[in-house]
Amino acid sequence: MPKPLHIALIGQKFMGRAHSNAWSQVNRFFDLPMTTRLDTVAGRNAAELAVFAEKWGWKKGTTDWRSLAEDPELDLIDIGTSNDVHAEMSIAMLEGGKHVACEKPLAGTLPDARAMRDAALKRPKQKTFVWFNYRRCPAIALAYQLIREGRLGRIYHVRATYLQDWGGPQTPLLWRFQKKHAGSGAHGDLNAHLVDMARFLVGEEITEVHGAIARTFISERILPESVGAKGPPKKGRSDVDDAVLFLASFAGGATASFEATRLATGRQNANSIEINGETGSLRFEFERMNELEYFDATLGKRLEGWRRIMCTSTEGAHPYAANWWPDAHVLGYEHGFVNMAADIVRVLSGMEPIVPLPDFEDAYQTQRVLVAALVSAQERAGVKLENVK
Ligand SMILES: NC(=O)c1ccc[n+]([C@@H]2O[C@H](COP(=O)([O-])OP(=O)(O)OC[C@H]3O[C@@H](n4cnc5c(N)ncnc54)[C@H](O)[C@@H]3O)[C@@H](O)[C@H]2O)c1
Repeated sequence: MPKPLHIALIGQKFMGRAHSNAWSQVNRFFDLPMTTRLDTVAGRNAAELAVFAEKWGWKKGTTDWRSLAEDPELDLIDIGTSNDVHAEMSIAMLEGGKHVACEKPLAGTLPDARAMRDAALKRPKQKTFVWFNYRRCPAIALAYQLIREGRLGRIYHVRATYLQDWGGPQTPLLWRFQKKHAGSGAHGDLNAHLVDMARFLVGEEITEVHGAIARTFISERILPESVGAKGPPKKGRSDVDDAVLFLASFAGGATASFEATRLATGRQNANSIEINGETGSLRFEFERMNELEYFDATLGKRLEGWRRIMCTSTEGAHPYAANWWPDAHVLGYEHGFVNMAADIVRVLSGMEPIVPLPDFEDAYQTQRVLVAALVSAQERAGVKLENVK
C-alpha cells in the first residue's frame, strides 16, 4: 500500500494551478511509493481560496500560511508565491520540520537566498526542492543524459535565450515589475531558468561573468486597480530590468551567453539553449518542447547533419515519456511539473530522481550567477563568482 504524502500549497494563482495539477495527476501517471494528499491551500483571500480548493481538489483553505508549519499532519509545503516571501515562508516551514518545494528564483535577493540555503543545510533530513521545471522536459533530460555519455566531448559554447513579449507599457504594474517584490525583472524570472539549465546540462559551475547589460525600457506603468477605472489612470514606477544580456565562463573554460527579455515583440515563450561541443551539438526550443536537435560530428561529412529527435518514446528511450501517451502524442507545459512532482515523491521515498533535482544549495548557486550579472552591468566590469557570496 503506498504511504500518504500530505501536502500544503501557498499561493493559488498561476503556479498554484500548475502545482495543484501536478500533485493531483502524479499518482495517475507514475507508480510511486507514496500517494499525494492535497490537504491545505493557503493564500490571502478566503473567498478565492474556497473556490480554488473546490476546483483543484484541496481539502481546505486557510489565510494563515504560518499555521502550516505547526500542522503535524503535513509533510511537504509547496511555495508558489512572489519572490519577496520565499525566504520567510521556506524558513518558517523548515523550522516547523517540513520538507519544502519552492518556486524559482530561489529568492528576490542574495541575502534571502543565502538564508534559505543555510536553513536547509542545518536540517539535512528535511529535503528542499526548487521548481526549475524545464529540467524535466524529456528533451532536456535526454540532453543531460547525452552529455553525461560524453557525446558532445569537450564543451565549447552555451548559447541560451529566453524571449517573451509582455506587450509593452499597457501591461499594468504587477508585482513582477517591482523590485521590492520580485528582486529583478526578466533576469530573475527568465535568466534564472537559463542559468539553471546551463549549469545542469554542462555539469559545471559558472566562474566568471565577463560583461552584462541590464536595461529598463518602461519605467512607469498603470496601477492594476486603475485598469478600466474612470478618470486618468494612476501610474507607478517599474524599477526592474526589462532585458538582461550577459557573457560568462564555465569552470572548464566553456563560454556562455545568456539573454532574457520581456520585450521581444512577437516572441511568446521562446526559451532556447544550444550547446556546442567537440564531437557534437544539442539544441532545444521550448515552443517545440517535444523535440531535441542533435548534431553528431563523429559521423563524418557524408552523413552528418542536424537530426530532430522526437522525445516521446514509450519504450523507455526518453526520460519520463513512457509514463505518458503513445509515441508523438505530445507533451505540454504542465507535464514538466508533473514529472517534477514524480521526482520529488521519489526522493521523499528514498529513491533517486530520473535526473537530478535542484535543492536550495543548487538554486543558491544559480542566484549567485544572477547577482554577478547585475553587478557586472552596474559596474561595467567583469565579476568573478568567488567574489559573490
Ligand atoms: N517555474 C516556472 O516556470 C514559473 C512560472 C511562473 C512563475 N514562477 C514563479 O512562481 C512564483 C509565483 O508566481 P506566479 O506567476 O504564480 O504569481 P501570481 O501572482 O500568479 O501568484 C502569486 C500567489 O502568491 C500569493 N501570495 C503572495 N504573497 C503572499 C502572502 N504574503 N501570503 C499568502 N499568499 C501570498 C498571491 O496571493 C497569489 O496567489 C514566483 O516566484 C515566480 O517567479 C515560476
